[in-house]
Amino acid sequence: MATYSIRTYGDPVLRQVAADVENIDGSVQRLIDDMVETMHEAPGVGLAATQVGVQKRIFVYDVGEGPSVVLNGRITESSGEWVYEEGCLSVPGLYWPIKRPNQVLLEGIDRDGNELKIEASELLGRVFQHETDHLDGILLIERLDPDQYKEAMKILRSRSLNPDQEKAKRKLLGRG
Ligand code: NI
Repeated sequence: MATYSIRTYGDPVLRQVAADVENIDGSVQRLIDDMVETMHEAPGVGLAATQVGVQKRIFVYDVGEGPSVVLNGRITESSGEWVYEEGCLSVPGLYWPIKRPNQVLLEGIDRDGNELKIEASELLGRVFQHETDHLDGILLIERLDPDQYKEAMKILRSRSLNPDQEKAKRKLLGRG
């Protein structure tokens, strides 16, 4: 097995919509194993294929009960509301309380091609929504309220400065 480097904010691949998997061949099986290893190493509770630069509708997750994978997963029903401090391996180090539906129904297939229907709420429900968003090219910053979004963009813009610009800016702000 091998690990991938995780693409971060600003990488255009994160904005692309992943294509359904038509054929679960050996390369897809290897991809799944490598994604699990990458997620565990990060560490994270979920990882979508787009985050490792692969445009296939696959995500892996592990909320403490061992790793699982969903192919061609889509949220087909959702209800309720839940606020959770959400982060993303592609937007490292930043967390925001984000309100989303609490209960969801996820439909897709497993790595053997069997149909899956999983009802989930709270953390698992959140992971399903977050990862299917990734596969639709949506990042968590798009789920922020307007004030959170403004703050997030400020931080992300300052991160995209090169090291010299960053140094000059810190000096300017008197932070050393
Ligand atoms: Ni993420």
